[in-house]
Amino acid sequence: MAKSIKFFELNTGAKIPSVGLGTWAAAPDAVVGAITTAVKVGYRHIDCAQILVFALKKVVEDGLVKREDLWITSKLWNTDHAPEDVPEALNRTLHDLQLDYVDLYLIHWPVSMKRGDSKPENLIQPDIASTWKAMEALYDSGKARAIGVSNFSSKKLENLLAVARVPPAVNQLECHPIWQQEKLHAYCKSKGVHLSVRIHTIGFSRFRKKDRGSPESSSQNGCREVGQDSCTSGSSLGLQMGHSVLPKSTNDARIRENFDVFDWSIPEDLLAKFSEMVQERLIKASDFVHETYGAYKTIEELWDD
Ligand SMILES: NC(=O)c1ccc[n+]([C@@H]2O[C@H](COP(=O)([O-])OP(=O)(O)OC[C@H]3O[C@@H](n4cnc5c(N)ncnc54)[C@H](OP(=O)(O)O)[C@@H]3O)[C@@H](O)[C@H]2O)c1
Ligand SMILES: *[C@@H]1O[C@H](CO)[C@@H](O)[C@H](O)[C@H]1NC(C)=O
Ligand SMILES: *[C@@H]1O[C@H](CO)[C@@H](O)[C@H](O)[C@H]1NC(C)=O
Repeated sequence: MAKSIKFFELNTGAKIPSVGLGTWAAAPDAVVGAITTAVKVGYRHIDCAQILVFALKKVVEDGLVKREDLWITSKLWNTDHAPEDVPEALNRTLHDLQLDYVDLYLIHWPVSMKRGDSKPENLIQPDIASTWKAMEALYDSGKARAIGVSNFSSKKLENLLAVARVPPAVNQLECHPIWQQEKLHAYCKSKGVHLSVRIHTIGFSRFRKKDRGSPESSSQNGCREVGQDSCTSGSSLGLQMGHSVLPKSTNDARIRENFDVFDWSIPEDLLAKFSEMVQERLIKASDFVHETYGAYKTIEELWDD
């Protein structure tokens, strides 16, 4: 039976479902099945990669869910930051997804590139203020019912808030027990910017494995360390911190498992263990850092670490 989901309220007044299905790096064929399973289980939020997904149309047409009950998040890629390219990019996405609007449209990175390939030579100085104006126009048009950003540091968010007519509703980030970014979270909260977080189930486990030099390959190692058998502790932590979470899976059992997070919360003593864990950013995005091209010469400049 489908479980009922919890929601968080955005600064637009819209209610974002607290657990979303991540589809990043999932094979297109697998996504159709994954979305169908997810919707049956009760997921109402799908975080879309740029390409994809006729699957959305299918679950609506099959009568599994109404469009208005689904929350679809999509993202503006780095090569589409020129203000005149922004509406075209959303048009393309809507066409690909076979939708009239998205519930949330995010600037994927604070990194801009020339039209074309995502190669270092195409990195340019971002003009986020201009890109954001174009995002605001999409919000005004109703094609993006909320707009936001992804991978923005407090500093970059502050610069944006200083010029925004429509403040970003969401900042989507990597967040898990070993990358909690508490300061950034506190800043977002103080500005009414909701955090939607990628859990990084496997990365978290991989780190712990590396850390301990253990030959075990179970993806659950990391979770076991903090005393939970299932790999949903990262989601639980996110939810407890007030974030919506985006676990990715194309496996039926794990899609179910990742949604079974509403009746359990991390006990205080385990929370304390989480807060003691050594913090390390898992994904550094060094592709977007270049000595000659673009705005960021170092990882620290990109993240304002
Ligand atoms: N903005 C960006 O740049 C960006 C980048 C990457 C991701 N994202 C978003 O964030 C989402 C999460 O991405 P991620 O790479 O961090 O995924 P993840 O949550 O780390 O998941 C990685 C792998 O863990 C497995 N898994 C999922 N649930 C599990 C469980 N309960 N127990 C054991 N293994 C489990 C999945 O494999 P199976 O499919 O086989 O279950 C999945 O491939 C993405 O889908 C995407 O929507 C955004
Ligand atoms: C986007 O699509 C709409 C029709 O839905 C059209 O009116 C508009 O001109 C398009 N914009 C761009 C930039 O392609
Ligand atoms: C950028 O944001 C996405 C969430 O959309 C996350 O998956 C990715 O890990 C982030 N990159 C870094 C380096 O944190």
